[in-house]
Amino acid sequence: MYDRKEEKKLITLIRRAREVLDRNWQGNYTAPSVKQYPHQWSWDSGFIAIGYSYFDEERAKRELVSLLKAQWADGMVPHIRYNPAYSEYFPNASFWRPLPVYAPRGVDTSCIIQPPLLTIGALYFYNNAVDMEEAKRFLGYIYPRLLDFHRFLYRERDPHRDGLIAMVHPWESGQDDSPAWRDMLRGIPIPQGYATTYRRKDIINVPPDERPEDELYKRYVYLVELFKEYGYQQHQMVKDSPFLVYDVLFNSLLCRANECLIEIGRIVGQDTLEPKEYLASTRKAIEKVLWNEEAGMYYSYNLRTSSQIRKPTAASFSPLFAGVPAHEQAERLYRYIDRVCQCGMEETNSAVPSYPRCEEDFSSDRYWMGPVWANMNWIVYEGLKKYGYTHKALEIKESMLELIKRYGFHEYFDPIKKKGCGIDGFSWTAALTIAAVCCD
Ligand code: GLC
Repeated sequence: MYDRKEEKKLITLIRRAREVLDRNWQGNYTAPSVKQYPHQWSWDSGFIAIGYSYFDEERAKRELVSLLKAQWADGMVPHIRYNPAYSEYFPNASFWRPLPVYAPRGVDTSCIIQPPLLTIGALYFYNNAVDMEEAKRFLGYIYPRLLDFHRFLYRERDPHRDGLIAMVHPWESGQDDSPAWRDMLRGIPIPQGYATTYRRKDIINVPPDERPEDELYKRYVYLVELFKEYGYQQHQMVKDSPFLVYDVLFNSLLCRANECLIEIGRIVGQDTLEPKEYLASTRKAIEKVLWNEEAGMYYSYNLRTSSQIRKPTAASFSPLFAGVPAHEQAERLYRYIDRVCQCGMEETNSAVPSYPRCEEDFSSDRYWMGPVWANMNWIVYEGLKKYGYTHKALEIKESMLELIKRYGFHEYFDPIKKKGCGIDGFSWTAALTIAAVCCD
């Protein structure tokens, strides 16, 4: 419960969050940031739809519909849907061409994926809807499309048929330069004489120190060029990509997305055996392959070396969000978060950094290597709440909101230099502020 003055401050915060979303609204989707990321990103839209579900049902729906207009005939929902008005961006639509014949006509897209947040966003939309008739009708429209995407993942990206989905590119994880992939990425040999022909646009509005280094960026681009040579054939990307990872975050979000899909299917009266099987297999495989009993931690997994990647990034806590760990495992994660994963902005601030300060490759301001992100904190908050760690969950939520109140709706926050980083006016920070204030 908040007192009256606190309440007034929160109303102001929500008003400011809505202004951010209004500024980034493009008529049918919300850019993560018009300046830095003007197109539509898949998992951003999921978080954004969650935010809208609390105050604007129409926009929540349009956000998801716009993304699904980019769905490929094989079920894939690409990680970017391009807006032709912003052709200056790199990588732009032509960077990915030629696209396979089953890519949609008349809509420009990328050729890789991001975590299926859209399924989670769809259920939030329904659960928070006022017009239930319309909400149910919308779920009827969206269910087969979401199911198609989940089917695509299990058909094309589950190389061992055990329920774990493999990523072929760091962009697919949403955590581009996570400490978990840096070594693997750096180890990708670039052919002699390979010349880069692109100009980075991501370091115009944001200092280069806060973005991935050139040697990583070069490999992001090189990987896509390889995939282009493969004609974006999923089986060849999985077979030959030098980068192949089971990301603990992707798979945990997929578990949660399967739960949402089952619920959506139930509401619209469909048989949900298939998503139930998906859910059971992914849960089991996360336990079997990604849990490390000795460390008491979940890790992502390098399929090229057949080994866990022992980097305790914030993604390691995401199985809580999906209800995967047993209580003893959850307790070990909780203790780690409580003891080690404090952002350290000041003693009372418990926001969870993307990577703990005690790790030697921690960086307080470089992108996914340590800064505090609103989406990861929201995932950890929801996860801890699910397991009954209510006090800690609330502490994290309040700490995250405190950073946003103090520094603005930044993309991420530097806990050491005490400042907002990346771009300001970032949509998912705004959307999840609304979600955090409005939920229990
Ligand atoms: C960056 C982030 C990714 C996000 C995108 C658009 O690439 O790492 O998670 O989806 O920007 O905001």
